[in-house]
Amino acid sequence: MLNNKTILITGGTGSLGKALTKHIFSTYPLVKKVIIFSRDEQKQFQMAQEYPLSNYPQIRFFLGDVRDEQRLVRAFQGVDYVIHAAAMKHVHLAEYNPDECIKTNIGGAQNVIHAAMQTNVKNVVALSTDKACAPINLYGATKLTSDKLFVAANNIKGFNPIKFSVVRYGNVMGSNGSVIPFFINKKKEGKLPITNMSMTRFNISLQGGVDMVMHAMEHAWGGEIFIPKIPSYRITDVAKAIAPDCPLEIVGIRPGEKIHEEMITASDSFYTYDLGKYYTILPSVPNFKLQEYLSHFNAKKVEDGFNYNSGSNEDWETVDTLRTLITEHVDANFEV
Ligand SMILES: NC(=O)c1ccc[n+]([C@@H]2O[C@H](COP(=O)([O-])OP(=O)(O)OC[C@H]3O[C@@H](n4cnc5c(N)ncnc54)[C@H](OP(=O)(O)O)[C@@H]3O)[C@@H](O)[C@H]2O)c1
Repeated sequence: MLNNKTILITGGTGSLGKALTKHIFSTYPLVKKVIIFSRDEQKQFQMAQEYPLSNYPQIRFFLGDVRDEQRLVRAFQGVDYVIHAAAMKHVHLAEYNPDECIKTNIGGAQNVIHAAMQTNVKNVVALSTDKACAPINLYGATKLTSDKLFVAANNIKGFNPIKFSVVRYGNVMGSNGSVIPFFINKKKEGKLPITNMSMTRFNISLQGGVDMVMHAMEHAWGGEIFIPKIPSYRITDVAKAIAPDCPLEIVGIRPGEKIHEEMITASDSFYTYDLGKYYTILPSVPNFKLQEYLSHFNAKKVEDGFNYNSGSNEDWETVDTLRTLITEHVDANFEV
């Protein structure tokens, strides 16, 4: 799919961006160009050490801010596919600095859409999060707005054959700032802070996230929000898996935090279809023939009222499976 194509990843130096870059080079050795778009020159410098031009002549590092539409237009010249992963993603930082979060997550989404429409980009996949579903914090609300912008962009593209779709998933195991590296670090202090004993989260590996983005790039017809079927874990099980002997210190729920995360609400169920490995929420008025889409993908409508919630999920990680996953995906030298 990507051989001979140019792909630009906003937020290419982040956890997902780096995993995508690795996947693209290993799966599509004939890729024309991979452009990493982000702000911090130091992160780009470090990533460039892993991808020396002598071995990766197709890689480019482009400094820029998604708040700057003109810079995006410049970066998108000759680009076929855009993966929009740049975001402010820390819930508490967004609560404290709302203007900054709005500028990056909403303004950035608008700029990516406008720049893609002004250039010859054919396909844009934007990253969402479970926190965008029935949001209670600003991060989630900005990502919901971003999702709406990308879905609606398909309505204003006219005869431009570009497609916009969204990929929504839950906590990425071991990603920057996530709970598992945090607990592994805190274990050294002899106790683990825990906000609430009932808390659950969806769990996806970085490779799972990469696979979903690739699925969206290959199969989106435009306007879908793709959601993976993934297990949940109890935060108490994560604590047991990492430090079974450490006492837990209850520190109370943080601003903007939910006990359980949701990826599909009962209200979304009216537009949600089961694709087998994934669910998809379709636009209420898709710009394709619904019946054609459903028969092409053998998609089945979920029951009205269905919701997909980390607390009522049927699929759970256990302490043992978590330990195996931590060794596989977070820290190969992990020991209890
Ligand atoms: N990690 C998770 O658990 C998780 C779960 C669900 C969804 N997501 C979503 O997945 C996406 C990627 O997450 P991640 O974990 O890879 O994030 P990350 O590791 O924090 O990386 C964020 C990337 O975005 C760049 N960035 C931030 N602000 C920018 C701006 N204004 N302009 C240009 N680049 C900017 C950062 O580089 P600079 O700072 O150098 O600009 C970095 O490359 C995000 O959209 C996030 O909302 C993540």
